[in-house]
Amino acid sequence: MAIIASNFKTNHTRKSTASFVNEVNEFLKSNDISNEVIVFPTATSFDEFETVSNLTIGAQNAYAAEKGSYTGEIGTVQLDEFGIKTILIGHSERRHVLGESQDEIAKKYDFYMSKGYKIIYCIGEPLEVKESGLDKTLEYVYEQFEGIDTNYENLILAYEPVWAIGTGVTATNDDITNVHSAIKSRIPKPLLYGGSVKVANVREICALDGVDGALIGTASWIIEDFKQIIENTKDL
Ligand code: PGA
Repeated sequence: MAIIASNFKTNHTRKSTASFVNEVNEFLKSNDISNEVIVFPTATSFDEFETVSNLTIGAQNAYAAEKGSYTGEIGTVQLDEFGIKTILIGHSERRHVLGESQDEIAKKYDFYMSKGYKIIYCIGEPLEVKESGLDKTLEYVYEQFEGIDTNYENLILAYEPVWAIGTGVTATNDDITNVHSAIKSRIPKPLLYGGSVKVANVREICALDGVDGALIGTASWIIEDFKQIIENTKDL
């Protein structure tokens, strides 16, 4: 059973998110699809969605606090209002665009682990590291586990090479299986691949050894494409 996650990033409005979530929900229900589907909308689009048990709404980010004086952030009090218990941590855009350090990420991880959240924890190397070979890539990726308790039972990992995110360049099947088998031999947790996954390649990628599903940005934002992505992976 593939895990299919959609990361909206800074896309969709409150209105279009509601219609997206409802359509995905209807699609899962009426086609009796058992994939685990997770949608990460913007925090402004959270609502009390009624969903089937295999559709979950998660937070793209939140601060490591219940509440407090953290201007511009949200904490668990705001997530609780919508019953949100799933969070993305360590996404490359948080690391490289918003400048979150490994230390901050580990603190956030600890906090949300202590609250029992399902954590989708992202790791992945930039292009210059990839170009210096598999050993260097793994070394870089393992450093992103510093301070992270990988024994946590509610953990899903997502390997997302930075050079493949939002670029249209997907990692090759060999790239993916090499990194996935190495990570899995150390950390036996569900491991998603992310980085330019599309309608046309999602099935092939999710069928690779050591790939338990996909975390998808761009190609997931159009509802028809996202439904097709789920359809293409429903029997894996
Ligand atoms: P992409 O993004 O599918 O647009 O490459 C993936 C991600 O950032 O999770």
